[in-house]
Amino acid sequence: MRKPIIAGNWKMNNTIAEAQKLIGELKPLVADAAAEVVICVPYTAIQKAAELTAGSNIAVGAENVAWADKGAFTGEISAAMLKEVGATYVIIGHSERRQMFGETDETVRARTAQALKNGLKPIVCVGELLSERESGKTEEVVRRQTEGAFAGLTAADMENVVIAYEPVWAIGTGKTATAEQANETIAYIRSVVKNMFGAQVANALRIQYGGSMNPANATALMAQPDIDGGLIGGASLKAEDFAKVVKY
Ligand code: 13P
Repeated sequence: MRKPIIAGNWKMNNTIAEAQKLIGELKPLVADAAAEVVICVPYTAIQKAAELTAGSNIAVGAENVAWADKGAFTGEISAAMLKEVGATYVIIGHSERRQMFGETDETVRARTAQALKNGLKPIVCVGELLSERESGKTEEVVRRQTEGAFAGLTAADMENVVIAYEPVWAIGTGKTATAEQANETIAYIRSVVKNMFGAQVANALRIQYGGSMNPANATALMAQPDIDGGLIGGASLKAEDFAKVVKY
């Protein structure tokens, strides 16, 4: 009953010219996909990506959004700006932003609320560090991040939210969580959402796995009952690999 959603996170890769080539290759490969397909691309490539995917089954997203409407926020991009160039999704709170750019549970909450207020669908990332997993703090960390991100939202808001569970130790390392490990934590995140918003919201909410997901492990991950999709970094940069994940 939850439609699977496979999203690429291009991170800081692909110029406009490179985006054009990749999207040209990708479109025919995923045209008949059963899953919802999203590509989250650098700001500079959003407009071109939206033009190239218009009328197709590929949606375009950004990789962050400002928490304010406009004003003195040097270097930030507003939700209205993203919508103007054709973004419909936006990744918020990716671990790279939390680790390298000072993103906190509070900024993630503010950006998520702002995205929803403006009709952008947030893909909100949560996930523990290796040291946190090893010291048995995984649930405590993802609970804090989940409660932090969605504080103050309504059940109706949550209909437009996607969560991505990305254990930080599995990102870009080639080390995937086992399908069972990923499912266990995702089921826990769903229980946190249930406590906040009730069973109906929790059961309808799509929760992705992210972290070295690729054509070789996508089938096993997607076979898990609580895993509703993937947020794909490295493997989203090659059309054939991403298409294989989309069609897990
Ligand atoms: P990789 O797929 O490259 O591990 O990246 C995962 C990720 O961070 C997606 O947001």
